[in-house]
Parts: sequence; structure tokens; C-alpha cells
Amino acid sequence: MCGIIGYVGQREVISILLNGLKHLEYRGYDSAGIAVDEDGTMKTFRKTGKITGLDTLCKGHHGQSYRGIGHTRWATHGAPSETNAHPHLDCQRRIAVVHNGIIENYRQLRKELEESGHVFLSETDSEVIAHLLEGEGTPFERIQKAVKRLQGSYALCVLFLDELNTLYGVRMFNPLIMGISEGECFLASDLPAFLDTTRKAIYLEDGEVARITPTSWEVKDFSGKSKTSKTITSIPWDPLTAEKGGYKHFMLKEIHEQPQALEDTILGRVDGITGQVRFDELENFSLETVERVIITACGTACHAGMIGKYSIEHLAKVPVEVEYASEFRYRQPLLNEKTLVICISQSGETADTLAAARLAKDSHARVLSICNSMGTSLTRIADWTLYTRAGIEIGVASTKAFTCQLAVLFLLALYLAQQRKTIENECILYQVQFLLTLPRQMNELLKISDHIHELAREYYLYHDFLYLGRGVCYPLALEGALKLKEISYLHAEGLSAGEMKHGPIALIEPDVISVVLLGRGITGVKTLANIEEIKARKGKVIVISHPEHLEVIPPVEKLLVIPETSEFLAPLLLIIPLQLFAYYVALEKGSDIDQPRNLAKSVTVE
Ligand code: F6R
Repeated sequence: MCGIIGYVGQREVISILLNGLKHLEYRGYDSAGIAVDEDGTMKTFRKTGKITGLDTLCKGHHGQSYRGIGHTRWATHGAPSETNAHPHLDCQRRIAVVHNGIIENYRQLRKELEESGHVFLSETDSEVIAHLLEGEGTPFERIQKAVKRLQGSYALCVLFLDELNTLYGVRMFNPLIMGISEGECFLASDLPAFLDTTRKAIYLEDGEVARITPTSWEVKDFSGKSKTSKTITSIPWDPLTAEKGGYKHFMLKEIHEQPQALEDTILGRVDGITGQVRFDELENFSLETVERVIITACGTACHAGMIGKYSIEHLAKVPVEVEYASEFRYRQPLLNEKTLVICISQSGETADTLAAARLAKDSHARVLSICNSMGTSLTRIADWTLYTRAGIEIGVASTKAFTCQLAVLFLLALYLAQQRKTIENECILYQVQFLLTLPRQMNELLKISDHIHELAREYYLYHDFLYLGRGVCYPLALEGALKLKEISYLHAEGLSAGEMKHGPIALIEPDVISVVLLGRGITGVKTLANIEEIKARKGKVIVISHPEHLEVIPPVEKLLVIPETSEFLAPLLLIIPLQLFAYYVALEKGSDIDQPRNLAKSVTVE
């Protein structure tokens, strides 16, 4: 939902901003722009479409500038156009602002400002900020005054021409990070924007203002009090992980990174001999008083939660509910100190998930986050955080973060079961053995990539896909369908196989493709009947199955078999063909796989 960047240092700024924006493009890509200080004059460049367009626009420009700000946009207020593209300027062109978020009271502010003579050039909510910053006082005082008027969410980079060699960053409910390097400083929505220069980062909190120069940084709160406790975090991610490394798309690279990501996520958390699960992060965590678990998240992360419910309830015997964070946050759920709320998020910045976590905290529930991005807002709200170690995920369609979320949830189920002594050690060891072999099995499974490409060539011209499963395969069906629809723009629906005969079976006809998922155990057995029912109505069926059912699967258009694993871990393998299928269908259709239309990686607005 928009990416912002600021740079001040000794290197030529335009190429640095463009490079940073390219790494933030996953956050929005309908227009982009930069503003730089060129010998005391504000120079701006704006272009609709992707950063490459802005890059071309800037190519012919030969000025020298060493500080500037940039923005890549996912439109909320005002269509994608050059005038609506950021940065936005004040009337005198002395102040430039880039904004990620939504200013909820912008209509009222704009009316007031227009009545007092300010001229607006765009239809955006963001432009009011530049006008509010005009007036008397030091830049910091003006920021203080402006934020008092703003309602909504914002991360800002502000360039005041009149204060040399400085930039300001302001944060309220949207992410903003400082990058610190020798003789230069960055501000950015996310780490990839500066990761190829520095891995030293400082995370800003809500209600903080940062002032950066090439050689210094300071943070104050909105009241003007210096925040002396800010610390520099060393980011472990290798900058190369933010490159495609020979793959055609980030999504394909990230699908193939799953065995390693899974291994990293499991590493040190489980003993293969005793089966003991260890989470150093969960010090002082006791389940004794927990009566109920609620898992809340959005999109793919919520599907992971829905799958996790099965193992937590079955192994740890705690009741678990799962709910989309966008619903949970407005439902006034009944929570108390005996409720454990698990919030799952790859980015740690999803607005609905953050609101759900805040609501849980305010209601005295305990909050555990499962997150992939260090130091993000969610991890700061939560009482405890279990990190997935998927590494940076850039493709808009989540893949490796999902499988790592499943792994952490599964480990958590075992951990809770051990704490509560609800299962025999033998059973834990049985599960752990399967868990530890998963990375190798995933590697094996990924070898069917070409095969799935062939399958995609056969089916990419069809229009309707149903994904069916029961038990853990039901949420997996939702995830398979989501992957296909978001990157190939085809109609795909995930359904509980048991519900087919209560309505959806009416959809079956020869042009409808059913992707049937057969997990291990009774729910897999029960789904076999669906295959017969669909075939009887001349529907086409692709089956992805655990080996257990091989002997009894009726003839179908295509059968793919995963390696042997346990019931709760089967989704970690079944998802691989689903991700590859979605990828190759989208490839055949020629869609923009890493940046599908209308989407953004991190949904930081409601
Ligand atoms: C789908 C996808 C989204 C995200 C959702 C939550 O491929 O990526 O559905 O899962 O927007 O994002 P996070 O996990 O960052 O909170």
C-alpha cells in the first residue's frame, strides 16, 4: 500500500531513490515519483505506471542532488495519474511530502486550507499534508502542528528545502524504518529499499518523528521529547535474497526457496531424538490459564491459521477459533486474560491484523504473533513473537511465508501439547520425524515443476476452477484457489468438499475444472466420493493426493501424488503443486506474476 523512501548523503540521489523504489514496488505500482533538492530548487519527476517509466523519465536529467524523497503508489484517493502521483508540494514549492496511509479528515482540512488561499493540484488525501506544513516555525514545530490536525494513518518523508542536508520521517500507524550507513541515511517503508547499502536499521514507533542528516539521526516523539532509547537493529537478511537469482519471477524463486526456509524455521526449535520442542522466545509463557485460543489474520496468513487450528486442537486439546482480522476487529469479540490471541502476518504491518492485535491487548487477552518481518508493528504490539524464518518475500502472492507459518503453527501445537501433557511422547516423536523430513520431501516434490508446467498449458484457457478438500485440506483448497485467482485473474473457488452436494455441485459441467485435494486419513477417504460425483457429471478432475489413497482413486484427468507424511503436515506438501500450478497458469496467460493487478504486498490501509 504505497512505498516511500528518503535519502540524504553524498551520493547522487536520483539513482538511489529509483533503486530503492524498485525494491518497494511490491507495495504498489500504479504511479511513482521523486522530489530532489537541486541547488536549493525543488525538482520533481512523476510518472504513471511502474518505476521503469519513472526511470526512463529521469534518464535525460543531469543535475546533481544529494537528498530527496520518493514514492510508489497504490491508489486510494484519486485515480492513478501524474497529478495524483507523489511527492506533493506546498504552494511555494519549498516542502515536498511522500505519504503512505490514509488521511481520514482530508476533506475538512482541504476545505479549510482552500478557504485560506491554498491551491491544490491533486485529488489525493495526501496533498493536505504539504499545505499543513507551510507557515511559521522550525520544520519540527511545523510537523508537530500538522500531526495534531491529521486523523488517519501515515508514514511520511518530508523534505524542507530551507533546512539544508536534512530529511524528516513521521510515523503513525504505517511502517517507517531508518537505514544508517557511513555518511548517509535512509528512511523507507521497508528494508529492501536500502538493504543493498546497509543492514543497520532503526524502527520508528507510532507517534515518532525522525530527523536525519548524512552523519546523524535523532528521534523525538510528537511532544518534542527525545527518544534516547532507540537502538540499531542488525538485519540478518542477505541483500541477494531481494534479487531474482536467475529465476524469471520472485514468486518462482520463493516457491523453490521453501525447503530452505522451512529448514531455517524449524532449526533449533525441535530435538529430533527426544521430540522436545523449544521456543526460546516463549519465556514466561504458560498455558495454564489459557482457556481459549483465537487465531486471526488476513488472506493467506488466515488460511495458515485455519490449518493450524486442526493440529492445535487435536494435539494440545485447547479450543481454537479462527477469524479474518477484518471481521474480528469490528465484532466486539468476548476476550479476557484467559484468551490467547494468535496474530499471523508475513509483513507484520497489515492494518486489519494490527487492529485485531490492539483490540486483543486492550481487552486484556494475551497476544502471540507469528511474523516474518523483524521489528515490525505487530511484533511490537504482541506479548510474544515467533518468527517464521522465510527470509524476505517479495512476490505479491505469498508462498514461502505460508509454509513457514504452517511449520510454526505445527511446532506450537506440539509445544502446547508438551506443556499441557496432552499427548504421548511416542506420538510427538512420530510427528517430529515427519516434520524433519519435510524439507527433503519438498525438494523432491519441486522436481515435478516441468510436469506442472505441462498441466498448466493444458488448462490455462479454462475459466472456472473449483478447489475441494476436507479437514486440513479445506483451508488448503481456499489457499489454492486464492493463489490461482490473484495471479492469473481466473475465477477459482475453494470449497469444503463435504458441502458440494449442498449446492456447489450444480456448477459442475465439462468446462469446470475441479482440483481435489486428498489428505491423509478419514477426510481424504471421504473426499473420494466427490471425485465420483464430479466425474458422473462430466466435470474434469485433477487430484493431488497423499499416497494412502492411490489404490482407490478412480480414473481422473490428472493425478499427482505427494510423499508420505502425517495428516497435519500434508498441507505443507500438497501446497507445492498448487503454487506451481497457479504460477504456470499465470505464466501461460502472460499476467504480471510478481505484481498482479489491483494488489499490493502489504495491505497497510483498511
Ligand atoms: C495472498 C497474500 C495475502 C496476504 C494478506 C496478509 O497471496 O499474500 O492474502 O497473505 O494480505 O498479509 P500479511 O501476512 O503480510 O499480514
